[in-house]
Amino acid sequence: MSMTSMATTALARANRAAVDKATAALAAVSAKEFSSSAMPAEVVLDAAVSDANKLEKKHFEIPEPLMMGPGPSNPYPRANDAMSKALLGHMHAPMFPLMDEIQTGLKYVLQTENEATFGLSASGGAAMDAAVSNLLEPGEKAVVSVSGIWGERFTEKCLRHGAEVVQIRKEAGLTPSFEEIEKVLEEEKPAVLFLCHGESSSGTKQKLDGVGELCHKHGTLLVVDTVCTLVGEPFFTDAWNIDLVYSGAQKCIGCPPGLSPMTYSARAMEKVMSRKSKPDIFSFDVTEVGRQWGFNGDKRPYHHTPPINIMFAMREALQIVSEEGLENSWNRHLNAHYQLWEGLDKLGLKPFVKNPEDRLATVNCIEIPEGLDAGKLIANAYDKFNLEISGGLGGTAGKVFRIGLMGYNCTPRNVESVVTAFEDGLKQQKFL
Ligand code: GLV
Repeated sequence: MSMTSMATTALARANRAAVDKATAALAAVSAKEFSSSAMPAEVVLDAAVSDANKLEKKHFEIPEPLMMGPGPSNPYPRANDAMSKALLGHMHAPMFPLMDEIQTGLKYVLQTENEATFGLSASGGAAMDAAVSNLLEPGEKAVVSVSGIWGERFTEKCLRHGAEVVQIRKEAGLTPSFEEIEKVLEEEKPAVLFLCHGESSSGTKQKLDGVGELCHKHGTLLVVDTVCTLVGEPFFTDAWNIDLVYSGAQKCIGCPPGLSPMTYSARAMEKVMSRKSKPDIFSFDVTEVGRQWGFNGDKRPYHHTPPINIMFAMREALQIVSEEGLENSWNRHLNAHYQLWEGLDKLGLKPFVKNPEDRLATVNCIEIPEGLDAGKLIANAYDKFNLEISGGLGGTAGKVFRIGLMGYNCTPRNVESVVTAFEDGLKQQKFL
């Protein structure tokens, strides 16, 4: 036996003895209490608690960088402040109108009238799990577009779920064309097609117009990931006939992470309702979640305890987006994107995505010039300007820098700061 496991066993034995002793002490007190009906003056439990992992009493400094990477972005201060309101119980009456308002605001940003629109209590990545779990039964087929990490993840989740996967593979920086998608749908007739509107690992944008109709012609449901695009790029759930959309709170919506927008079309809900087996993740089952959110039956019973303070923040962030107006928000993101590239171009930096039409406004990928120490430039930006520049992810790691222009952070002034940080980093390494 190793020293570590011997020590662990000894600790477990000591703890067991301490627990037995405490249980006996409690039993004795209870017996006395019940026999004499007198309250004990004081109970002192003498247990051998290990102090090994006790936190020291000290101030824990949380830095406040300007987060210009692919997310999370700094939330709107009003959304942040909303979280400090006193906690409400999730079954208390005022929570239901709050949830209704979140639904309305989400319908606006998703441009949908789908009843099944809500915030999933989880990360955007977990909303992807929810999509797989609800729309695919084991043995069914999904066609998955893969040109970066999110297609790889969707594939992995389908396989773990027992679904079959056919991939449309493209190099990072490219997206499949309408014709390529049409061909594979005709051949495979899958239950689900997965497309990523914004592939944040490479900075590419997938064209979606017309794909929904194509899917429905082949009996396929269209699932779209909008984690890094919703509110930052034009997006129309209903007009584009998309069956399931999920997103994240912490990017262009300008809310802290934890409540992920989701919407299911009537067609997607029909599929869920007519499944042979129930969705395998209870917490994400849209029929169960829908009862609490009020779109599956009149009663609103308990399903789970959501991140209530994040819901306060989400309502406020959706209010801010509504005040600005979606078109204005899309324009603000696009103009910041042009401003960024104008500045980077002057520094001799090149976009990773070659076709301008395929470039995301929200997550911008910049080729790392040959010979430049990318880590050093990122560290310089953080140390000197308190500004986050991110590296690549998955297949683009070591090849690109990533700059997020999202939500509250997407301002001309912040773009200037990013360009200044690049200029300084390039000068430091004698690239300028
Ligand atoms: C996360 O969403 C990332 O793109 O890094």
